[in-house]
This record gives sequence, C-alpha cells and structure tokens, in this order.
Amino acid sequence: MGVFETIVDQIRDAQMVTYDQLVYIFEHIDEEKEQYLYAQARAVAEPIFHKAVYLRGLIEFTNICKNDCYYCGIRCSNPNAQRYRLTEEQILNCCDMGAKLGFKTFVLQGGEDPYYTDDKVCDIVRKIKDRHPDCAVTLSIGEKEYDSYKRYYAAGADRYLLRHETANEEHYAMLHPASLSGAHRKQCLRDLKEIGFQVGCGIMVGTPHQTLKHIYEDFVFMQELQPHMIGIGPFIPHKDTPFRDEPMGSVQQTLWLLALLRLVFPKVLLPATTALGTADPMGREKGILAGANVMMPNLSPVDVREKYMLYDGKICTGDEAAECNRCMRLRVEKIGYHVEDSRGDHPNFK
Ligand code: 5AD
Ligand code: FES
Repeated sequence: MGVFETIVDQIRDAQMVTYDQLVYIFEHIDEEKEQYLYAQARAVAEPIFHKAVYLRGLIEFTNICKNDCYYCGIRCSNPNAQRYRLTEEQILNCCDMGAKLGFKTFVLQGGEDPYYTDDKVCDIVRKIKDRHPDCAVTLSIGEKEYDSYKRYYAAGADRYLLRHETANEEHYAMLHPASLSGAHRKQCLRDLKEIGFQVGCGIMVGTPHQTLKHIYEDFVFMQELQPHMIGIGPFIPHKDTPFRDEPMGSVQQTLWLLALLRLVFPKVLLPATTALGTADPMGREKGILAGANVMMPNLSPVDVREKYMLYDGKICTGDEAAECNRCMRLRVEKIGYHVEDSRGDHPNFK
C-alpha cells in the first residue's frame, strides 16, 4: 500500500482531514488512486445506508431574491431573469404530485423573497404537514432571524438547507456583496442546529478565488457544526452575473470532495447535486459511486423551471416531475443502488 492509500485510511479512521493530507490527496491523485478513494467512501457508507439513495422533491417556489450574490443567476440585479412566485395552491399541488410519486421529503427552495413573510411560510409548512403527515419538509429560503427559524420549526419544518458557500470570511466577501457576511451565515447555521432542525450546509467547488486552504477551512467549520446534510456541486458560471467569464468548477474535484466528506462524516446525507449532473451528464451517478446518497428531482411546475436558473445549462428544465422521477430511479438502479422511499432522516434522528 502506498502513501496515498495510507492517508485515505488515516482520514477514514480519524474521521478528520488535515491540511497536509488534503494537499497530498489533491497533488498525488491519479486514476487508480481515485478509485481507491471512492471505494473507501462506498465502504464507509455501505453498512449505514445499504446502497440506498433517498429522493427529495425540490420545489423552486420563488426566484425573487433581495440578494445580489455574484455567482447566482437569480441575483436581484439580473434584469433578464423572468421573476415568478408560486401560489400556495401550486406549491401544495407539487407536493401532492410528489407524494404520488413516492417522495417523502419536500424541499421548498427559493430566493430571499420578502413576499413570503414568516406567517406565509408557516402557513404553507402547516398545510403540507397536514396533508402529508408522513413526509418531511425541508426549507431552503436563506438567512432569517432566529425567531423566524423558531417559528418555522414550530410550524413543523423538519430540516433546513443553507449552504455556507465558503467558511473563509475573506473568500465569502469575494463572492457576495458587502450586505452579506460569512459570519452571519455561519451563525444562522448554528442557530438552526440549536433550534432542532436537521441542518444542511455546503459549498460550491471551484468558485473564483477558492483555494485548497479555503476548502480545508470548510472541513474545519463542518467538523465544528456537525451538519446532517452537506450539499456540494461545481460552480457553473451564469451569463448574466459578474462571474460570467470565470471557469467552471471541476467535476473531478467535486467527486474527490464528496468521497472525503463521506470518510469524515460517515452518516451525513450527501446529495449528488443537479449542478454535478449539469457539469457532467453522468455526474450524479459518479457522485453516488463516490459516496453520495441523496438525489433531488425537480418537482417545480415545468413552466417555471427555465426561470429558476442559478447557473447556465441547468438540466431537467423541460421534464415533468414524473419523468425526472422515473429517470432518477433508473439511473440509481443502473449503478447497483436502489431508491428508498422513506423520509431518509439522518441516522441520529431516527
Ligand atoms: N453554480 C453552482 N451552484 C450555484 N448555486 C448558486 N449559484 C450557483 C452557480 N452559479 C448554489 C449555491 C446555493 C445553492 C442553492 O445553489 O451554493 O446555495
Ligand atoms: Fe430529470 Fe433525468 S432526472 S430528466
């Protein structure tokens, strides 16, 4: 066994990665070593998840956003984005459709849209939980006050996704306008966890100015936070943003990081993201074979899909929910995994 394999085993056994280990992995990895890394990641997931993949029905319910993140296609200063909001009835219809397809989690994702006051959000959450008491509701609606988060939780929301994007605050400031701070972002995640949500953080891989040092800091932050879910995908430029001419993040590096995350956080829920599937037609399959165990089929009405363009070329914008559902199940089965139609809570929440 070579140095590379020894380091992978050390990371797995210690469930932590040092900066030097991360550098060594990134500098010495080749095709064969890559396979060793992925095999170890699968071996860690196997006794916990038994080759199950969980589906989360994603409902992109508003693309109106008060923020102006430099990477994001629905940033407020993009005049080319055609703005929309789903009505409560449309959202509930999406959930009914998802429930028929077997989904046990609905992810309500949107821009930071002031129209959806806490009252409205709580109302929607309550109605979904009323109609589908066996389902989990995940919110992904950005940075809010502590008391708002508390209200969502009291209304029945189970989980909350808020990628920290980068743990390094200087790097954060290179991706966001001055009105947003990395410190507040991280505080939101700590608050969400304390309130009792299953919490998801995450990063984009290959954002402008990102270094391996930053990625190491992401691991340090996540080891402190101990998130239940970690969403990562490659950065993909959007033509109407300041980052339009920046290079796309690396699919390969995303896969290495998925595998490393599985080694450091064996029980974590780790999606093979739409961005990964956009950057590479087989990206989601590769993600699962590198240790991911979640996929998020799109449940949004087809007529709004094109409008929720966070980055260029996003896949599945023309497909009905039923098509994405079938497509995903086939993709999962083709690589020897199976979709499990349970809520797919984090093992600590069962
Ligand atoms: N490329 C890849 N991912 C993106 N996101 C936003 N814009 C992009 C982009 N251009 C991700 C962010 C955000 C999540 C909802 O989508 O990480 O948290
Ligand atoms: Fe949407 Fe394949 S997952 S078409």
